[in-house]
Amino acid sequence: MTGKFAMRLEFLGPPGAGKGTQAKALEEKFGAAQISTGDILRTNVAAGTPLGLKAKSYMDAGGLVPDDVIIGMMETELAGRNSFILDGFPRTVAQAEALDALLAKLGLPLDAVVLFDAERQALISRLTGRWTNPRTGRTYHAEYDPPRVAGIDDEDGGPLVQRKDDSLEVVLERLDTYDEKTAPLVEYYANSGLLVRVDALAAIEEVTAEILAAVEARSKAVRP
Ligand code: AP5
Repeated sequence: MTGKFAMRLEFLGPPGAGKGTQAKALEEKFGAAQISTGDILRTNVAAGTPLGLKAKSYMDAGGLVPDDVIIGMMETELAGRNSFILDGFPRTVAQAEALDALLAKLGLPLDAVVLFDAERQALISRLTGRWTNPRTGRTYHAEYDPPRVAGIDDEDGGPLVQRKDDSLEVVLERLDTYDEKTAPLVEYYANSGLLVRVDALAAIEEVTAEILAAVEARSKAVRP
């Protein structure tokens, strides 16, 4: 698979599974825009917009921002797009139903829902060691994916910070929230034929290759 073409993916998986890392890698390779609800919310929190003010307390506590807020935000984000990677949306069955309705209305079916499989202990160590560029959302890891100079983004030279919700206490809360509210989406998509699983514990480049192979195999099955 090479070049730029319309690709519509949903990334589903627990916090720290590597959804953002892989969305950025595929965005660079294929030009499919990453739409990260977490990044959009953080930009709004930093700017103190009405949306940010509504979202902040839920995010700081490791819970989910209410469905109506997220669904309204995503209706605006998806309008006029053809190629995208949904990173962090949907996160509840209500959001998944709203997404189905919206994409049907826009005539934009998903190509695949990629499920990132990873176990809890690895996720904790990934999140508590993560460094993020707050301007671009690009992430590094102190041990697994370090920047060339500690605390500085390789790409734009900007400062890297640790996210407030990456403290151990909030990480544990976020993982519980995932198990309770988002994991049921695996069942939701089970019979859709869209679901592909990748081993999120493999090396970053291997996960990228696995996603591309799985998406290609699925698109061949749909359009032989
Ligand atoms: P959001 O920003 O979406 O956070 P998240 O889903 O918890 O996901 P993360 O960004 O923490 O993890 P990731 O899977 O992207 O991992 P990453 O690639 O960075 O959401 C934040 C908050 O916003 C939520 O808690 C909620 O309050 C709110 N929110 C967002 N969307 C919402 C919605 N739809 N509804 C309601 N509320 C919503 O990787 C993690 C680390 O591991 C990095 O350091 C990376 O370098 C490293 N790494 C990645 N891949 C590998 C690998 N293969 N091997 C080794 N290290 C790796």
